[in-house]
Amino acid sequence: MEGRTTFEDYVSKTPKSKALYERAKRVLPAGVSYSIRLFDPYPFYTARAKGSKLYDVDGNEYIDFWLGHTALILGHSPPAVVKAVKKQLENGTHYGTAHELEIALAEQVAKMIPSAEMIRFTNSGTEANMYAVRLARAYTGRTKIAKFESGWHGGYDALHKAVKPPYDMPESAGLTQGALQDTLVLPFNNLEGVRKRLEGLENQVAAIIIEPVLGVGGAIPAEKEFLKGLREFCDQHGILLIVDEVITGFRLAPGGVQQYFGVRPDITVLGKILGGGFPIGAFCGPAEIMERVDHTRYSRPQTSFHGGTFTANPITMTAGLTTLKMLEDGLLINRLNRLGDKIRDELTDIFESKGVDIQVTGTGSLFGVHFTKEEVKEPGAAFRADRQRLNEYHLRLIANGVFFLPTHNGCLCTAHTRADIEKLFSETENFAKSLKS
Ligand SMILES: Cc1ncc(COP(=O)(O)O)c(C=O)c1O
Repeated sequence: MEGRTTFEDYVSKTPKSKALYERAKRVLPAGVSYSIRLFDPYPFYTARAKGSKLYDVDGNEYIDFWLGHTALILGHSPPAVVKAVKKQLENGTHYGTAHELEIALAEQVAKMIPSAEMIRFTNSGTEANMYAVRLARAYTGRTKIAKFESGWHGGYDALHKAVKPPYDMPESAGLTQGALQDTLVLPFNNLEGVRKRLEGLENQVAAIIIEPVLGVGGAIPAEKEFLKGLREFCDQHGILLIVDEVITGFRLAPGGVQQYFGVRPDITVLGKILGGGFPIGAFCGPAEIMERVDHTRYSRPQTSFHGGTFTANPITMTAGLTTLKMLEDGLLINRLNRLGDKIRDELTDIFESKGVDIQVTGTGSLFGVHFTKEEVKEPGAAFRADRQRLNEYHLRLIANGVFFLPTHNGCLCTAHTRADIEKLFSETENFAKSLKS
């Protein structure tokens, strides 16, 4: 609408969402169930979702590039998953006993990810990381864990540190010194820096945990040489390498980082896509490490405990299995990866042709936009970029029917159409033009 601000435009289209937000604030702190889902002036409320689209309570349609926190690689409610889940719903929603689907999904993961001989399921990525850290400590007999600046592994106390700058400020109240003192923080894509920070502490470190592509940190891929050096460093010092593939797993390659980056993890942490649209997490690795979870081999206090009421829920297992079978041959993933290359090139060209300083990061079907001249190879550069402008860009897209969670990365799904991608480009072009004038 001519003459209207993006804000006014959004507000005029979303009166029912505004009312729901007022209602939500009374019962949900900040009106949401996860702080990152709140954006100004208020979030729209989703009524339904299908394929590449979200539809809000006011009847607005949005092309979704957030895709349930990157979990929905096949889009919303893919027919094959819906069919499998409907069938399973009739057979029970939650058993709380052993069942065959948990074996089938574990076998499927083991088949696709070379280093994953044995698997345990959890209900979220946070939980999976928590158990992976415990397992690394149990296996090595060491206490310290090293993570990277801006690495996001969920809200577990020991890993909820140095996510956003300033890295020395606690990320949350309620974290005890006791919980955080054994967590060391490392610079991303900087092997020399890793060596320096761990000098003299090497044989106290149980594990180094890394996101192969920083998420919160700005869709920044780890460099292959850096990962190779990190693997060597871990081997040299008896440190386990935990690769947090909660976002990248089954998105970049069917076989995970080993296939995509050529690095072998000791423990792989999975989530998101693995659940086929339902809540999940998992940690996996060679039998020799995973056996520490086996209470029949290692009794208390040697065993590394893991469990939970909803672990290996049959609905999630069936949705995950259906999804992985569709991704297994790599054809869909490779197609999305090529589309990701096109998006990075095209978004860069659109902004550059309008004289706007831009860096588009990411790899495969993950991408992040940064309004800066500075090359973005480490998260500091992503946080120094103009985040206010990024927020304006995303809100403008939302007001025009293209959804990115403001200031977060985008990702692709197999349900995105050519028209969806063209709309992303044309709305970006409109935004870029508005910056010039
Ligand atoms: C890399 C990574 N690890 C762990 C998590 C935590 O997973 P969850 O939100 O399922 O607890 C996330 C969530 O965004 C993530 O991106």
